[in-house]
Amino acid sequence: MLENRWDTSLYERKHSFVWQYGEELLNLLAVLPGERILDLGCGTGQLTEKIAQAGAIVMGIDYAPAMIEKAKENYPDLEFAVADGKDFKVDRSFDAVFSNAALHWIQEPDAVIGCIRDALKPEGRFVAEFGGKGNINAIAKTLYSVLVDLGYPSPEKMNPWYFPSIGEYATLLEQQGFDVKYAVLFDRPTPLEDGDAGIGNWIQMFASHFLSGISAEQQASAIQEIERRLKPTLYRDGTWIADYRRIRVVAIKA
Ligand code: BEZ
Repeated sequence: MLENRWDTSLYERKHSFVWQYGEELLNLLAVLPGERILDLGCGTGQLTEKIAQAGAIVMGIDYAPAMIEKAKENYPDLEFAVADGKDFKVDRSFDAVFSNAALHWIQEPDAVIGCIRDALKPEGRFVAEFGGKGNINAIAKTLYSVLVDLGYPSPEKMNPWYFPSIGEYATLLEQQGFDVKYAVLFDRPTPLEDGDAGIGNWIQMFASHFLSGISAEQQASAIQEIERRLKPTLYRDGTWIADYRRIRVVAIKA
């Protein structure tokens, strides 16, 4: 599968909503001073820092080296490491694993949950939010339809995302010995930054791999066509609103 290209500058300049929305999840995490917390999929480290500010001893991991490089530059006093969410091992155990807007990038949830379980102390908690069933339906459908028109026979096969239902994800957690204390799926229409350029920025940031096989000129016209087709549903008063739907879970290692 083609990998997404992570442009940390575009991420920090135009996608700060990713960690701003994630701040709500920190309330569910409810850090106690001195706890050891692993931030899985920490990106450029903004929420890792909030967790540290709440008094935890925190470590941030992300599979994208560019993200970790930037996180270290942003917060040199914190610990960060490159690690793959579906295949990581840690040399100490954690009171909690926290993850915001990252797990929808990994299509092997069983492997991820296994790594999280192994990283937690007994009774440790897993607190996460990511894209749930139905997330970005309109964006993905439109992207695929434009790609079909460009001659890609089955663009959905290039889908790198995992958007489970509550039933599906809670079952996976229970199968690996977690008690699921809380699980919700909710629509969270998300205004994108930068006015008219919002959806184009989003595609460049998060869906660049779909377009990597075509020229820059074709990419620009594909984005224009996506904008044209999505405008009636996702554009209001000068702002693009992404059709996000989140799943939020709190589970305890039994
Ligand atoms: C999300 O946060 O839901 C998301 C971000 C990028 C691609 C797909 C989903």
